[in-house]
Amino acid sequence: MARPLKVGLVGGGKGAFIVHAHQKAIHFDGTRRVVAGALYPEPKIALEEAAAWPYPIRGYGSYGEMIEANASLPADERLDYILIVTPNHVHYDPAMKAMKAGIAVFCEKPLCLTLKEASALVKTSRKLGVPFAVAHTYLGHWTTRLSRYIVQRGLLGDVRWVDSSYNQGWLATRLEATGQQQATWRVDPKRAGGSGCGGDIGTHALMQLRYVTGLDVTHVAAQMETFVAGRLLDDHFTVYCKLSNGGRALVRASQICIGFKNELGIDIAGTKGSLRWRQEEPERITIHLPNQPDRVYWRGAVTPGDGFLPKDLPAELMAEPTIPSGHPEGFHDAFARLHRDFERDVRAWKAGRPFTSDGSKYAKVEDGWTGIAFLDTCLKSSRRKGAWTAMPKTI
Ligand SMILES: NC(=O)c1ccc[n+]([C@@H]2O[C@H](COP(=O)([O-])OP(=O)(O)OC[C@H]3O[C@@H](n4cnc5c(N)ncnc54)[C@H](O)[C@@H]3O)[C@@H](O)[C@H]2O)c1
Repeated sequence: MARPLKVGLVGGGKGAFIVHAHQKAIHFDGTRRVVAGALYPEPKIALEEAAAWPYPIRGYGSYGEMIEANASLPADERLDYILIVTPNHVHYDPAMKAMKAGIAVFCEKPLCLTLKEASALVKTSRKLGVPFAVAHTYLGHWTTRLSRYIVQRGLLGDVRWVDSSYNQGWLATRLEATGQQQATWRVDPKRAGGSGCGGDIGTHALMQLRYVTGLDVTHVAAQMETFVAGRLLDDHFTVYCKLSNGGRALVRASQICIGFKNELGIDIAGTKGSLRWRQEEPERITIHLPNQPDRVYWRGAVTPGDGFLPKDLPAELMAEPTIPSGHPEGFHDAFARLHRDFERDVRAWKAGRPFTSDGSKYAKVEDGWTGIAFLDTCLKSSRRKGAWTAMPKTI
């Protein structure tokens, strides 16, 4: 039996948020384990936090120390990948150090702060051949994968229009003034990057669009706005986009919609039909076809050859659900699917076999680069009052 992969955490101590969803997802299958962590920027607290972790892990005073120490551990104790769950300004350096030390990287989004950093990460991962995932959570929903299949198999015809949006309400007031941890760094350009809302959740809306349709954004007309007085970064992000097939899209995100929780959704209109998906109800997809009743597809409960889905629906889609349909999957399951697919690539890489990392299972470092290029281009467009601005050529 294969030994579990060993994961080291970068960030996650003292009131941290997203580490907890990840660490549950890492342990989902019993084939991956968190074994170490550099959980906090101050070494003393980092060690205390590691000692207080709910199960035993090896604590380090800094991520640099954790990565450096790895090479001198016995071979069967070394880390297989690190998970970076720090604010955005602490993504680039640990990712770069880990790749150079021969450790695979699973990094939170947005990939980093600047396009220069993003390009360096792509180049290094290609040069060293290290697996690199970016945590675009919602790609891990089974329904997202079925949506991708439906659209890319052409079942909706040519894509004309996509509305990909992510609306939240938690930053509708100046929460950062209370010292709330997650708000404080998200509104600080030094720690969040050039965009607040766009970087935080607009990148999810972009990735959902690109993953499901397989299309790229070629030009943007962006308005990045700030409603809450005293904030330096956008809290409202609206981007009209030209797509690589000539279609159009709206990629939008807002954090000032009181009462909205995590309303990520995608509507896709093709020449033969439309698709609707909402992450707050992630178990189903609705398909609209001309002059027909709506079709609702539930996770794991689809029938190949039903008059819409083809007979040769891929076996891996049919086999993928982890629990029978009707027992709801959610956010943690989506994260687990990403870690499961990443594990496959890390194991192949460790065994010296080619690994796919083709973007069909999880966002790769190149997708992270596209997210940063998108934000960069939106900032340029928004400064020019929303003028159409071309995206840079793919790296
Ligand atoms: N994929 C998603 O759905 C999703 C959801 C939430 C957050 N995120 C992303 O995850 C990242 C973390 O967000 P969060 O909300 O969990 O933030 P957080 O503030 O809750 O946690 C950040 C953690 O990083 C630690 N940290 C900061 N600097 C460090 C350093 N130098 N060394 C070690 N640890 C350090 C902090 O102490 C804290 O434990 C961000 O990039 C964010 O955009 C992604």
